[in-house]
Amino acid sequence: MDPQDPRPTLSRSLGLAPELSPQPGSKRVFLRTFGCQMNDYDSGKLRALLAKDGYATTDEMGEADLIIVNTCSVREKPEQKLHSFLGEAFAVKRRRGGRATVAVAGCVAQQEGEKLLARYRELDLVFGPDAVPGIVAMVEASKRAPVVDTQFLEASDYVFADELDPTAKERVSAFVTIQKGCDNKCTFCIVPMTRGPELSRPSGDILTEVRALAAGSVREITLIGQNVNSYGLKVDGEKTFAELLYAVAAVPGVERIRYTTSHPRDMGDDVVQAYRDLPQLTSHLHLPVQSGSDRVLRRMKRFYTRDRYRELVHALREARPDLALSTDVIVGFPGETDEDFEETLSLLDELRFHTSFSFKYSPRPNTSALKLLEREEAVPEEVAQARLLRFQERQRIISLEENQRMEGQVYPLLVEGPSRHDEGVLCGRTSTFKMVNFPGDLSLVGQTVPVRVTRAFTNSLRGEPV
Ligand code: SAH
Ligand code: SF4
Ligand code: F3S
Repeated sequence: MDPQDPRPTLSRSLGLAPELSPQPGSKRVFLRTFGCQMNDYDSGKLRALLAKDGYATTDEMGEADLIIVNTCSVREKPEQKLHSFLGEAFAVKRRRGGRATVAVAGCVAQQEGEKLLARYRELDLVFGPDAVPGIVAMVEASKRAPVVDTQFLEASDYVFADELDPTAKERVSAFVTIQKGCDNKCTFCIVPMTRGPELSRPSGDILTEVRALAAGSVREITLIGQNVNSYGLKVDGEKTFAELLYAVAAVPGVERIRYTTSHPRDMGDDVVQAYRDLPQLTSHLHLPVQSGSDRVLRRMKRFYTRDRYRELVHALREARPDLALSTDVIVGFPGETDEDFEETLSLLDELRFHTSFSFKYSPRPNTSALKLLEREEAVPEEVAQARLLRFQERQRIISLEENQRMEGQVYPLLVEGPSRHDEGVLCGRTSTFKMVNFPGDLSLVGQTVPVRVTRAFTNSLRGEPV
């Protein structure tokens, strides 16, 4: 997950154990997670499965018997993180006389498979996202010979791991997977190759997990998938995404519902209507636009236009006037001209996204945008960098202005926990997903309390209880 990412973070939302302190003699696992919420979720499942097998989690790589890195390959930069991480992991393995298992999981593992073993002789195990449920057996087998498992399972064989982390129920906010994979073919994107075809998790299982979480201390559920709006459409008799939202909202104890990620093409009127009907549905939506230029959107194969996106936003804001939008933007896509980029900037100015994640286009193996590069001019690095900085500068101003509009007003905050930096300070979120720090007692964690915003910053707010 990007450091600037305002989406829920791993330990808080997934309900991972506050690091379990290792018992003398017990096995220890060190797990590092890169990438998106799908990887966070898989890491939680890995921990739950390994805990059942007697593994305690450790923060010290140097004392781990098992070192796992859960990787992301969505752009080149996150992929590079793997290589420096492995350098460290192998140093630990050598120091321990070889008595440590080193494993690569996630999207780079899926993409590179055997090649990783060939490149790194000390690597024991490489496995893709579909192999997560078999972690314990794979680790055992890898002690005899290196193991690679990057098979995509048939729909009928795929199991959404149901193991709930034992402490998930003690958290305020939790992720629940509703879908895996992606059937879209956005030309820049490697995810369909690393995560495989789209599969919807049965709504009955989703609701069982939500009920179990809400029966504990969880008040906020974030439904996750790569393209949540197409949930259930390919399964006879399954709920649609909108129907799922209504069903989750009906579970006692669920106060807030979030979801990610939405594809603008698949967002239907029924979901817009849900913003009128469901107070539990929060007033924040992450709706990746990628570009404000129709020419670029066409080449990205996003299947919507700038105007369709604008109309959708207007409909959503009519249904929910305080809706705060965030988005993803790619600059420097092959053939992007200055005019194309100006259209992205003008869309930002018009729609005033509260936050955005912006990236320079990064060519990915086996994606169809690579073919565009054969006939389109690649945008020179300096040009892409300059566009990125201009976009981010503009976004920072808008984010701060939007936050300043909140000063002096009172908002109900779901209190998530103590601030990491200041003692006696709590941190909570508005329905619009703004983070507010305010002085308060730990007993408020998990409650929704009214707080007045006293000071706005670009990425957070300060407040006082009323
Ligand atoms: N399923 C989600 C997000 C997938 S990846 C969606 O459809 O929106 C998250 C973000 O990474 C994307 O929204 C996109 O902005 C960015 N991204 C993906 N591939 C990229 C690439 N090759 N170069 C630059 N950014 C990329
Ligand atoms: Fe990638 Fe597009 Fe699927 Fe999102 S919808 S994961 S950007 S292919
Ligand atoms: Fe990265 Fe894989 Fe997620 S490529 S963004 S970890 S689906």
